[in-house]
Amino acid sequence: MNNFEFWNTTKIIFGAGQIASLREQIPAGARVLITYGGGSIKQNGIFEQVTAALEHVTWFEFGGIEANPHFETCLKAVDLAQSEQIDFMLAVGGGSVIDATKFIAAATKHSGDPWDIIETFGAAVSDALPVGCVLTLAATGSEMNPTSVVTRAATHDKLFFNSEYVRPRFSILDPETTYSLPPRQVGNGVVDSFVHVLEQYVTYPAQAKVQDRFAEGLLSTIIEDGPKALSEPHNYDVRANLMWSATMALNGLLATGTPGDWASHLIGQELTGLYGLDHGQTLAILIPAIWTYKLEQKQAKLVQYGQRVWHIQETEPEKIAQQAILLTRQFFETMGVKTRLSDYGLDESVIPAVVAKLNEHQFTQLGEHGDITPEDAANILKLAL
Ligand code: NZQ
Ligand code: ZN
Repeated sequence: MNNFEFWNTTKIIFGAGQIASLREQIPAGARVLITYGGGSIKQNGIFEQVTAALEHVTWFEFGGIEANPHFETCLKAVDLAQSEQIDFMLAVGGGSVIDATKFIAAATKHSGDPWDIIETFGAAVSDALPVGCVLTLAATGSEMNPTSVVTRAATHDKLFFNSEYVRPRFSILDPETTYSLPPRQVGNGVVDSFVHVLEQYVTYPAQAKVQDRFAEGLLSTIIEDGPKALSEPHNYDVRANLMWSATMALNGLLATGTPGDWASHLIGQELTGLYGLDHGQTLAILIPAIWTYKLEQKQAKLVQYGQRVWHIQETEPEKIAQQAILLTRQFFETMGVKTRLSDYGLDESVIPAVVAKLNEHQFTQLGEHGDITPEDAANILKLAL
C-alpha cells in the first residue's frame, strides 16, 4: 500500500425529506445563488422543496446550465453572483450543475482570466464562495469531492480542475429526487459510478486489502441494484444504495494508497468535448477496449475482479480476465448504455481528432503505468469501433 493522506470535509445529509434541512445548513441572511440545469427541478417538485427551506435567506436563481457545462454559461452566472453580491452557492442538480457551480464559486473570487482556473488544473484558485449541493442524479461523486469538469464550447475543450476551495460544505442526498430520472441518465449514472470504482481497482495489485474490498462491495451493489433502478424506478432502497455507492466511489476513499488508471476518463473527455457523447457513454465504450489492449498488465486485477465480483468459475487466468471484460460490457449494455463507437454513429475518422486533442492537452502518459500515449489511444479507439 502506498503512503497517503485522507480527509473529506463534506457533510452528507442523507435520506428522504432531508431537503428541508437546508434551513440549518445555510446561515440566516445569506445571499444565495441557486443554480440548476435545463429545468427538471421545476417539473419534479425539487425546486419547491428547496425554496420552501430558504425563507431565512435572500435567494436568486440561475438556470440553464447544460449537461457537460459550458465555461461560457458559467461566466454569465459569475456576472450575476458578482452584481448581486452572492455569498453562498447552492447547486441543485446532477454532476454538471455541481461542477458548474464549483467553477462559478471559484471564478467569482478570481481576479484574472477565469480560464486560468482550468488551465492550471485548479492551482490558480485561492478563494471561492462556499458551495452546498442538493444532488438529483447518482453518478459523478462531485457532491463529495474537489473536482469540476467544464467545457469551453468555442474550442471543444472539456477539462477538469481540482481545488479544496470548491469542495462542497454539505450535500443533501435524498434518493427520492432520483425517481424522475429518465432511463438514459439512470444508465449513465450506473456506468459512471461503476467505472469510478474500476479506475481505482482494476490496475495492478497494491496490497491494499481494505480498499479492494470496499471496491468489490461497491461494484457488487451497483451490479445488483443498477438494473432494478430501471425496472423499479420508485424502489427507495435501490435508489438509496445506488446514490450512496456513487458518492463513495469518488470521494477519495478508494484512492487512498492505491494506483489509479483514469485513461477511460481522459480519452472519454475528448470524445465528449468533440462529439457531445454523454460522459457515461464514453466510459462504456472505452473500458472494454482499454482492458483488451492492456490485458497482460491488468490481468492480475482482472482475475481478482472476475472471481470476487462476477464469481467466474474458469481456472485459466487469461480466460477469467477475458470473461470479466465480456461480463462488464454486457452489464453496461443491460443498463442501456451501448459499448461501441459505431453505436453512436462514429467511425475511425474520429481517431485523429481525439489524438490531436490529447496531445494539445498534454495527456500523453495515461493509465496506472503512465504508458498510454495518444498513439496507444488511437489503437484503443480502433478496438472500440
Ligand atoms: O438539466 P436538467 O433539466 O436538470 O436535466 C438533467 C440533464 O439533462 C437530467 N437530470 C438530473 N437530475 C434529474 C434529471 N432529470 C430528471 N430528474 C432528475 N432528478 O439529467 C441530465 C444529465 O445531467 P448531468 O448533471 O449532466 O449528469 P451527470 O450527473 O452524469 O454529470 C455529468 C457531468 O459530470 C462530469 C462529467 O464529465 C459531466 O460533465 N463528471 C464530474 C466528475 C466530478 N466532478 O468529480 C467526475 C466524473 O467522472 C465526471 O467527469
Ligand atoms: Zn466519471
